Amino acid sequence: MPRGNGFLRQEEFTEEYFFKLSVAFCPVCTMVQLTEQPEPERMFNGNYPFFSGSSKGMALHFKRFAEEVMTDYLTTSDPFIVEIGSNDGTMLQHFARAGVRHLGIEPSENVAQAAIDRGIRTVCDFFDEDLARRIAQENGQADAIVAANVMCHISDLHSATEGIKILLKSGGVFIFEDPYLVDCLDKTAYDQFYDEHAFLFSVSSICHLFKEHGMEVVDLEPQETHGGSMRYYVARRGLRGTSPRVTLAIEREKKLELDRPETYDKFRRRCEESRDQLMDLLKSLRRQGKRVVGYGATSKSTTVINYCGITPELVEFICDTTPTKQGKFSPGMHIPIRPYEEFLTHPPDYALLFAWNHQAEITEKEEKFQREGGQWIVYVPEVKILAPFKEWSLKN
Ligand code: SAH
Ligand code: TYD
Repeated sequence: MPRGNGFLRQEEFTEEYFFKLSVAFCPVCTMVQLTEQPEPERMFNGNYPFFSGSSKGMALHFKRFAEEVMTDYLTTSDPFIVEIGSNDGTMLQHFARAGVRHLGIEPSENVAQAAIDRGIRTVCDFFDEDLARRIAQENGQADAIVAANVMCHISDLHSATEGIKILLKSGGVFIFEDPYLVDCLDKTAYDQFYDEHAFLFSVSSICHLFKEHGMEVVDLEPQETHGGSMRYYVARRGLRGTSPRVTLAIEREKKLELDRPETYDKFRRRCEESRDQLMDLLKSLRRQGKRVVGYGATSKSTTVINYCGITPELVEFICDTTPTKQGKFSPGMHIPIRPYEEFLTHPPDYALLFAWNHQAEITEKEEKFQREGGQWIVYVPEVKILAPFKEWSLKN
């Protein structure tokens, strides 16, 4: 596999980096994880192309997240909040505006700089035990630490977890969210597996991890973001009551047999079926002379495109709103990435929704495309052409 976010120029094709993407399950700690991952610096550097603010829906999600944290967990007179993987400051800006002492930790220089330019205090570095110690010495410990879609990116999870313990006040809370294994299996969302996602967490595996570091999961809140995520509330062991939601989630995961290798064999077979169905559909549309364009050059799409073998003959280009991706090519299969505006000027017959987790936001924004006869193809939770909902509901 190439890198999920490894969008590249034509002159870089010959030096493209590939690694072996394979997923393993540990029957002891129940963690689902990649067996091999590129070096962090290869993935998170000055050319990181993902900007949190690129989805309005996610920006609103982070505003609400920040408001909840401020109301429930930052109740002392001069609280201090830290965000790990703060990216362009989409979440931290709300703390900054409210005058809360804050610090973002973000190793990718370009997105960190975007946050700094907005007046958000940011340290450009990888979070680990050593950095946690330094930050605690310079700023004091944090009342709360937050992280979204970051913990699953950190291959040295034990160092990050120990760092959280070092940086957090004894009564403090670590609140983080990541894509949830149950949703991934349930929706056959195999595109959650790419280089940056070293882990795919379950409640059981997270409870096991924090227990090893003297902490515990005290509450949970499922999220709809990224196709189904879980928000975990973590504190030092014994300092806060534990919600019954935690035990219920572990029992549910047991019933779903997340601790059995057979579950993952079945998942693999569903992935193969999904791949075959998508390729049959794309090839059939090509035979009919239809134009298909990809929507959203997501890192997840790299797994789908390369696993299925989707070539530029099947998908003409991928439109995306991110300036640094435009004019480049998709990792591995080298499908051109074009400015989003080309979707409007050259609407295709079919749009393959690579950003399927933003389906509501995108189909609403692109209502005209559907009204004028364009059709959406999705592959999560199953391969299908979306019905033109709005016209259908008007007629009925
Ligand atoms: N929290 C944002 C960004 C998620 S993308 C959101 O949900 O939209 C993952 C981010 O984590 C990237 O910006 C990446 O640079 C950062 N990251 C990766 N490893 C990290 C580490 N060890 N410490 C802190 N941030 C890290
Ligand atoms: P996301 O699923 O968050 O990405 P990833 O799989 O990398 O985590 O989707 C973000 C990408 O989708 C980003 O490149 C911008 C693009 N996008 C659009 O082009 N238009 C849109 O309306 C939205 C919401 C995203």
